[in-house]
Amino acid sequence: MLTMHTILVTGGAGYIGSHTALLLHQQGHQIIILDSLVYNQSFDFPWAICIKGDVGDRHLLETIFTQYPITAVMHFAAFIEVGRSVTNPDLCYHNNVVNTLTLLNAMRDHGVSTLIFSSSCAVYGEPQRLPLTEDHSHNPLSPYGDSKHMAECIMHRYADAYGLRFVALRYFNAAGALPEHNLGERHEPETHIMPLLLRAAMHKKVFTIFGTNHATPDGTCIRDYVHVLDIADAHIKAYAYLQAGNQSTAFNLGTGHGFSVREVIGAVQEVTGLSLPIACAGRRAGDPAILVADATKAREVLEWQPRHSELHAMVRSAYQFALLQQEKPVSGIREVKQKQV
Ligand SMILES: NC(=O)c1ccc[n+]([C@@H]2O[C@H](COP(=O)([O-])OP(=O)(O)OC[C@H]3O[C@@H](n4cnc5c(N)ncnc54)[C@H](O)[C@@H]3O)[C@@H](O)[C@H]2O)c1
Repeated sequence: MLTMHTILVTGGAGYIGSHTALLLHQQGHQIIILDSLVYNQSFDFPWAICIKGDVGDRHLLETIFTQYPITAVMHFAAFIEVGRSVTNPDLCYHNNVVNTLTLLNAMRDHGVSTLIFSSSCAVYGEPQRLPLTEDHSHNPLSPYGDSKHMAECIMHRYADAYGLRFVALRYFNAAGALPEHNLGERHEPETHIMPLLLRAAMHKKVFTIFGTNHATPDGTCIRDYVHVLDIADAHIKAYAYLQAGNQSTAFNLGTGHGFSVREVIGAVQEVTGLSLPIACAGRRAGDPAILVADATKAREVLEWQPRHSELHAMVRSAYQFALLQQEKPVSGIREVKQKQV
């Protein structure tokens, strides 16, 4: 029989955190979300307690860890924009590294030793070989990639010194949505290809391809897209892995199959039936031509299988979510449920 646990989900009002929180709730767990709602996003789902606050607020963490019998933390909260991390590394390092340290210290002081951490394929940098395995060297190309690498280093040291037990899940490109639960991707500003393409198609805006002369069959970048629900499922499996007493480690989460920007554009056009005005621009600095995961380790150790990550299915669900968003007034009528602690 499933034992209900209380799980703290930082960044749980965000894209991947919210899908994972829903899945955890469906497993019978109590969900405490801590999210600063940096994008003024609303979160009004009855299946979680959402506390508006900052992961870097040690006093608030004290209150939360004292008030709730938290058994594990899933740490999604971070700044995710690679470009902004280059122009404002201070913000990125502070939020993604310093605030993570504050969280780890609070966990240590309250005897919470189980952590699932949102890492990224950005830790690898320019691939020396493909597909990328977990033992590939870390040569991040941005402060964002650095921040994920640094957080992983800190977790390893905390594991040795304080008995932290963690799984770092290195996501490749999250995509797709759960429109039936009103969940999907809503970054502001949006930098991810699928919502950007859908916006461009729906509002007849030009979509710009950065780099058409990469060493790929059609010259555009190839990325490994994995459905957000498959990523959420990996968190459930990683939690079970740690509960079973296994040792701290990292897993890649990807399908092992990449799609080029032009292929994703084609899928968006096929699914929506809309035309897409396209412009081409030069390559962006630090954009590897191909990033594709070798997720054999997650498949073998966690028995994880990406079941929802077919490209057209991901586009379809993201499109359904975008249509739902369009029906809503721009400034949400949904009230943010903020719990005072
Ligand atoms: N989206 C992807 O494709 C992808 C790929 C690799 C790794 N990741 C990582 O996965 C995690 C989740 O990504 P996402 O796409 O869901 O991002 P997101 O921006 O949708 O969600 C992050 C959430 O964290 C919150 N947040 C940020 N800083 C906070 C703080 N200091 N205190 C409390 N809340 C804070 C934001 O309000 C937001 O709701 C991030 O750590 C990101 O780096 C994402």
